[in-house]
Parts: sequence; structure tokens; C-alpha cells
Amino acid sequence: MAEVSLLIHDLEAVVTPIGTGPLRGRQFGELSVHSPASIAVSGDRIVAVGPPEEILRQIPPGSELESVDGRGRTALPGLIDCHTHPAFLGDRAAEFELRSSGATYEEIHASGGGIRATVAATRAGSEGELRSSVQRHLDWMLEHGTTTAEAKSGYGLDRETELNSLRAIRAAGQSSPVDVYPTFLGAHTVPPEFDSAAEYVEFVIHEVLPEAAPLATSADIFLERGSFEVPEARRYLKACKEHGLAPRVHADQFSERGAIPLAIDLGARSVDHLEATGDEGARALARSGVAAVLLPACGLFLDLPLPPARLLADEGAIVTLATDFNPGSSFCESLPLVMNLGCTRLGLSPAEALCACTANAAHVLDADDVGRLAPGYKADVLLLDAPDWRHLAYHLGGDRFSTRIKSGQVLQ
Ligand code: NIG
Ligand code: FE
Repeated sequence: MAEVSLLIHDLEAVVTPIGTGPLRGRQFGELSVHSPASIAVSGDRIVAVGPPEEILRQIPPGSELESVDGRGRTALPGLIDCHTHPAFLGDRAAEFELRSSGATYEEIHASGGGIRATVAATRAGSEGELRSSVQRHLDWMLEHGTTTAEAKSGYGLDRETELNSLRAIRAAGQSSPVDVYPTFLGAHTVPPEFDSAAEYVEFVIHEVLPEAAPLATSADIFLERGSFEVPEARRYLKACKEHGLAPRVHADQFSERGAIPLAIDLGARSVDHLEATGDEGARALARSGVAAVLLPACGLFLDLPLPPARLLADEGAIVTLATDFNPGSSFCESLPLVMNLGCTRLGLSPAEALCACTANAAHVLDADDVGRLAPGYKADVLLLDAPDWRHLAYHLGGDRFSTRIKSGQVLQ
């Protein structure tokens, strides 16, 4: 065994999704449970998981290593949030109050507020302020067990602020323990200085994309009435794909308007939201390689109908859960809370919810070395301070971690 730098010993259990790659169909929710167990780490990687005495036997006596006492704790993979919008300034507390007295999210958007209000606040700030904002949001996520996160731009919608957002995301990611995957959401909505969606998309493709592409790994668009339709989405995502970005789509949040066939046709990584998806769309998505990213905190925050989660899972879709952390439709950074909503509102089992926030979320980000506790994977480990791993989803908003380990480093 490679030289062990960290030993997490005598855990009650180590719980991890089985196999490799995304888990779908009958494998969705399949976990392997080692109990009791220890985890040996070398540098930033896991080198062994198994019975404590067996692991101990493989470590040469006198080895200098850090050790973490796992007695009474359960180890789980660091959580992966594959859909977040942390690059913004300002807040939407006033809009939240308006919604509490009956105004709808779409009405506020149509009257020039919503996303556009955050765009105005974000444009008024500097790259440094954006970096601090992303950093603060990543800290919040890490507190709730997120060790890998996607992070979208999309509150600039002009050349300078979109590029500032992506640079801020990358810089914050470099100084945070959280691994960050930046997404270019240049087509979040049409900014006020443009009259048409088509004209704006041409501007983005020619003036922003060439410099944005090297700063990101994926591209995203909001395909919805009041933002963009299929022709603009096709044009934008194809151009982004030609620049090496993996296409993703925000779609079927309020209305179904052709996003699923488009995503399948383009070989997108995911379609995200799906509250308005009908049975036919759900079945088509389930048969494809495009992941279904469900965002139940957003559904709760906006009181949306429920997405067809059970149908998607039963028909074999790659089902994923994410927070959709953003200031307007889901001001929530807690994946354990989202897992609870996955169970209580979407009919997923705790094991399915765990797979959705680990192995399947890793697949959406094309990150093949996170999301499992097995040799070769990054040592991203949560020690849950509870007698049963299911407390992660069961304890509503009360996730309790005694220790968080990121890339083999024990965090304070
Ligand atoms: O995923 N739907 C579009 N985008 C975000 C919301 C952004 C906002 O309201 O600021 C979402 O819900
Ligand atoms: Fe979103």
C-alpha cells in the first residue's frame, strides 16, 4: 500500500454508492456498507477501505500518520452540488416579501425584477467583491457537507461582468477547499439593453463566448417563456459546444417547450428543473444519456408543482439532486436539506437521494474521481455524528458532521 498519511479508524460504517459512473435503473440507490471499517488515505487519495484490523495490518509499524477516531461515526462521501449560482451581489429579500403577499416569480420577472434585479446589483460591483461573495457562498456550502460544487455565472449578461464572474468563481475555487466547476450561463435571460433574445444570443456568441470558454467547463441557458426559446438555445449551446463546453439546460420550470428533445439531440449533460415535464418527456429523458437534475428546494421556495421524480427514476433516468443555490428562486445551500425534500416530496429513498448527490452529481460534472469512498477516489469524507447514515436526510436541516475531510486534509 502507498504511504498512508491519514487513517480514519474504527468507524461504525462506511457508506458509499456501488460501482463506477452514474447509477440508474435498478442500480440507483445501491449502496455498499462496510461495517465496522477504517479508511486509509495517501496524500489526497483513498488507498483502502475495509475492516479496521485488516487496514491496520497493511500499515508498516512506526509510520507517521495523522489519525481520526471514527468510533460512533459513519463516513459518507463529500456531497456534490451540481447546480448552483453563487456569483452574485445584493439580495432579493424585498422580492421574497412581495412573493409572500401573493406576487409570483414570473410576474416579478416580467416587470423587470427577478434575475434582472440581481444583474443590476452584480454589474455595479467589482471582480473582487464578486470573488468575496463566491467565497462566502462556498463556505456556507462546505458547512453543509458540499466538497465539490458547480458554479454558474449569469448575473452579468455583459462582457465584462460575465468574465469577472467566471474569474471570481475560479479564484474563489482555488482558495476554497471546495472543488469548483465553473459554468458559463451567458444566456440566463435577455438583459434590458437588448430588444430581442436572438440579437442578445448573437452578441454573447461573438463578444463573450471566446473569452468565457477557457474559464468554464459547461454552458447553460434558461429555456423558458420570458427568457429564451428552442431556436436561440440550439444556436447558443451548439456554439458553446464548439468551444469545448458541455451543454446544460434550465428547462421545464414553468412550461414545457421542447427542451428535452433539444438536449438529447445536442448530447447535453443535463436538463435541470423539470417541474413542468410531462410523462412523454420524462420517458424520453430516462432513455437518454442526459441527466435529470431535480431542484426541490427551488420547488419549495417558489411553491411549484412536483417534478415526475419517481417516473424518471423508475424508467432509468440518471437522477440527480442539487440546491440551485441563488438569491431569487432557491436561497438554500444545504444538500442534506435537499436530500430530505427528495425523500419527503419526491418519493426518493434516502439511498437514492445519497446516490443523486454523489455518484450521479459527479457524472453531471464529468468528475470521475469524486462521489465514492473507494480506492483511487479523492479523500473527500464526511463523518456524520449520528447512529445511522440515514440521519443525513432524516434530520431536516440539521446535518451534523463531526469532521469534514477534503482531498485528504482534515478541515477545522
Ligand atoms: O435556476 N431559472 C432560472 N435561474 C435560476 C433563478 C435565478 C434567479 O431567480 O435569480 C433558477 O431557478
Ligand atoms: Fe438554476
